[in-house]
Amino acid sequence: MPKPRVPRPTAKRLSLYLRELEAQQDRGQPTSSSKQLGTALGLTDAQVRKDLAIFGQFGHPGIGYKIPELIAQLRKILGTDRSWNAAIVGAGNIGRALMPYARFRRKGFEIVAVFDSDPAVIGSVIAGHKVRPMSDLPQLVRERNILIGIIAVPAAAAQQVADALIKAGVKGILNFAPIRLEVDHHVSVDSVDFLLSLEQLAFQVSLGLAGSLDERDGE
Ligand code: NAI
Repeated sequence: MPKPRVPRPTAKRLSLYLRELEAQQDRGQPTSSSKQLGTALGLTDAQVRKDLAIFGQFGHPGIGYKIPELIAQLRKILGTDRSWNAAIVGAGNIGRALMPYARFRRKGFEIVAVFDSDPAVIGSVIAGHKVRPMSDLPQLVRERNILIGIIAVPAAAAQQVADALIKAGVKGILNFAPIRLEVDHHVSVDSVDFLLSLEQLAFQVSLGLAGSLDERDGE
């Protein structure tokens, strides 16, 4: 079957559906519905149905969604039904904060290498991870089948680090540095920017806009 083309906002919502379904399962719920998912996530039930319909028919008449079944399907769609080896580049504040984060492993993301360029940091062990020099990156990415790179270096070094990761074989990058990375179309980049989020919050709070912003894209 050809892979469906998935709009990015839909892909983000799939992760939210999965998280909500896992929470419902933890509460002992056996089934769910588009309405329940929509209400929990501030979406319409029509939106939930439309997003899921891209991938198939998951609901059961008179029952709704069987939670374990839909969780398994969503994990398959999102690629989180398998484990992913990841590397962190930059063992500073952000890198160190990420290394001991146990939920990564529980969700199927294994940090299997950490790199830095600072001789004072290289060789140290942080949360069980030995920090390696950048010169080890190409070989370790290949040997440890690392497909995801997490960039936690200063902005000025981020592009060069991204290039090194991609050249070594990494296919997805989680970028914490506040710059837009230039990458080939076969590489996926997702950026995390707490500051941008804080600015958005400040904007909403200062204008008294909380809860009144239109979530749709402007046309
Ligand atoms: P840091 O200065 O504590 O750590 C950066 C590490 O990167 C250092 O260990 C340094 O030796 C290493 N490094 C520098 N150049 C390198 C290179 N070419 N190759 C390999 N390693 C290299 O910085 P911090 O506070 O951890 O921030 C890391 C990045 O995250 C920065 O770009 C910062 O602006 C960004 N940041 C992002 C936030 C977000 O919300 N996304 C929040 C705070 C910081």
